[in-house]
Amino acid sequence: MYDVVGVGFGPSNLSLAIALKERATNGAGRKISAAFIERQPSFGWHKNMLLPSATMQISFLKDLATFRNPTSKFSFVSYLHESGRLTQFVNNQDFFPTRQEFHQYLEWAQSHFEDSVSYGSEVVSVRRAGEAGSGAAGHLELEVRDIADGSSRLVHARNVVISTGLVPRMPQGMERDERVWHSSEFLEKFRSVGSDELKSVAVVGAGQSAAEITRFMHDMLPHAQVHSVIPSYGYSVADDTPFANQVFDPAAVDDYYYGTDQTREAFWRYHKNTNYSVVDTEVIQDLYRRSYDEDVRGYRRLHFHNLSRVESIQRVGNETLVSLVSLLDKETQVLNTDALVFATGYEGMDPTRLLGDLAAHCPRDDQGHYRVDRDYQLVTEPELPFGIYLQGGTEHSHGLTSSLLSNLATRSGEITESLVNRLETEQALPALATEETV
Ligand code: FDA
Ligand code: NAP
Repeated sequence: MYDVVGVGFGPSNLSLAIALKERATNGAGRKISAAFIERQPSFGWHKNMLLPSATMQISFLKDLATFRNPTSKFSFVSYLHESGRLTQFVNNQDFFPTRQEFHQYLEWAQSHFEDSVSYGSEVVSVRRAGEAGSGAAGHLELEVRDIADGSSRLVHARNVVISTGLVPRMPQGMERDERVWHSSEFLEKFRSVGSDELKSVAVVGAGQSAAEITRFMHDMLPHAQVHSVIPSYGYSVADDTPFANQVFDPAAVDDYYYGTDQTREAFWRYHKNTNYSVVDTEVIQDLYRRSYDEDVRGYRRLHFHNLSRVESIQRVGNETLVSLVSLLDKETQVLNTDALVFATGYEGMDPTRLLGDLAAHCPRDDQGHYRVDRDYQLVTEPELPFGIYLQGGTEHSHGLTSSLLSNLATRSGEITESLVNRLETEQALPALATEETV
């Protein structure tokens, strides 16, 4: 029986593990026993998009801990110091490390928590356990499947923090296969096909993933035709200028949460372009320069199909016939590709499937969204005596940072304090924690 079990061990729950550990180290209040369950065999953060030149979209200071505790030993600066690269990093004068370097930082941070994490384990369901009226009534039971051998086990918890991440989105009617990929599986699929087999490839979408993959394939397949299918007139820039960037400040969560419907609507209307369907300036300029260079050389192999959407796809052997429809004149065009990548984004996290029957005890608002308290707890019917916290899936209630890294450190601190408060109010309960892992 743990005080809290984290479902998923990406950056969000890693940040929570750090917040819990630092609180325990401070000796403040009740010590919390925690465990984390992660389905990947080892730590990985969007590994299939670790393209060599991809950079972070937030400052390195928005790491796992600094905004909550600037003196944390789990900060990015601390990692650089330990790796012997702090001086060189500063000489580099760049707020935005590569995703590969940030991944190394995350791996380094998680290495301090390996005893608390079960890798290769998938949480299949979270349900209520214990008989009403008995001493252990009203805790949670997690069914956990071992990915390697398929066996199942039960883990018991007083509270859970669900953080299972974004869900890849395919356009309606399009199925993935060994030559039709979603960007979330890109590198693994790309490596599985010999590059000499890829003579014509296409990427669908006009977000950061699409632009990065287009550039990567243009680099890696010098003999190939590279098609980019863009729903807009051209890539639009991600607004990361200082005033707009305030939407990612910790204070913006209060403004969003306690705001009116009109306030929230204004956040989306004016600032969606800080994150969705947009691309960093540097990548846009790089792609345009490549396109222009091809014009100058009189040899074009990078093709932009703007105002276009995929109507249908048809597999013939290893080839995929992609039927595009232009929004300009409704004309259709068929591309013959050896690989087709849908960089068509993600749905937010939805805990419904994991919660099973419990979901019916979690009220929703008029739009069908779960009600979530400011401390990221799902509102449940009052008789449920455990906390179900969400890290992700709270864009409707807490705003744009819900699925991002920007506010991780602060959010984890807030969840930690809420957990402590819950557990302290429940001191009357028998002390069930048998294993202190954090
Ligand atoms: P994340 O998805 O990282 O982790 C969830 C974990 O849960 C995964 O490891 C998954 O395996 C595990 N899991 C899922 N279901 C499970 C189950 N049933 N049982 C057990 N484990 C389960 N944001 C930003 O602010 N700055 C940036 O630079 C970027 N860069 C970026 C690049 C790319 C390519 C993408 C797709 C997204 C970003 N993001 C981003 C946004 C991204 O959502 C964010 O960086 C983090 O991944 C959020 O961390 P989480 O831990 O919440 O989810
Ligand atoms: P995204 O921003 O949601 O973009 C998805 C793109 O696909 C949009 O252009 C969208 O067009 C298009 N699309 C969706 N459905 C389509 C359809 N049926 N036909 C044609 N086009 C369609 O997704 P993303 O680029 O994967 O980015 C997701 C998150 O990951 C963002 O937070 C981003 O910043 C992050 N990311 C970060 C990095 C990095 O750190 N270097 C790299 C990649 C991604 P519409 O606008 O018309 O919907």
